[in-house]
Amino acid sequence: MQIFIDSADINDIKEAKELGLADGVTTNPTLIMKSGRELKEAIEDIVKIVDGPVLAEVVSQDTEGIVKEGREFASWAENVVVKIPVTEEGLKAVKILRDEKIKTAVTLIFSVSQAILAAKAGADFICPFVGRLDDISHNGMDLISEIVSVYSNYADIRTEVIVASVRTPDHVIQSGLIGAFGVTVPIKIVRQMAKHPLTDTGIERFLQDWEKVKADIN
Ligand code: G3P
Repeated sequence: MQIFIDSADINDIKEAKELGLADGVTTNPTLIMKSGRELKEAIEDIVKIVDGPVLAEVVSQDTEGIVKEGREFASWAENVVVKIPVTEEGLKAVKILRDEKIKTAVTLIFSVSQAILAAKAGADFICPFVGRLDDISHNGMDLISEIVSVYSNYADIRTEVIVASVRTPDHVIQSGLIGAFGVTVPIKIVRQMAKHPLTDTGIERFLQDWEKVKADIN
């Protein structure tokens, strides 16, 4: 299971890396804005510490502009993947970049039909947003199940699903049960994944008992 870190903050990525996570990193314009850095500067720092795919998102809306941005991003490092919103113009750009052997991830996926189009255009990855679907009372994880089922029916589809807009550790667990290629998680969710109240009380009790052992020895 691939765990990507959904952040452009180098400290988040370093923290995840120390935990053996950070198989890759996903960014978007909001995350770049939050990092307070320029896109190129942020991505160049991330690729210094992450070997896996590092997703950088375009902001152009037309095919020509998207392709231009994509070619530039791809020149920054071998593991940069061009993240492109799922529009008709975006899908045309995916096909052009694929033919140039530039890797792409199609983002803002909210339906199976969009996932099918992204796969047919030749996307290496798609990022369906589960949390934002949950926000409008749809079941985000149902979308993941359906996409993974459809993709697995066809050997010629090699597009990998990176579950995005992850809001809870349960989204990660459900992604694993479904067998999605990976998830992209904010560092906050990584920290939540590590926590369990019984672990905390268990450690507390062990330490109390250890103090008693030491007292007996002395
Ligand atoms: O990578 C983008 C995606 O994960 C966005 O998440 O929480 O803004 O819906 P969120």
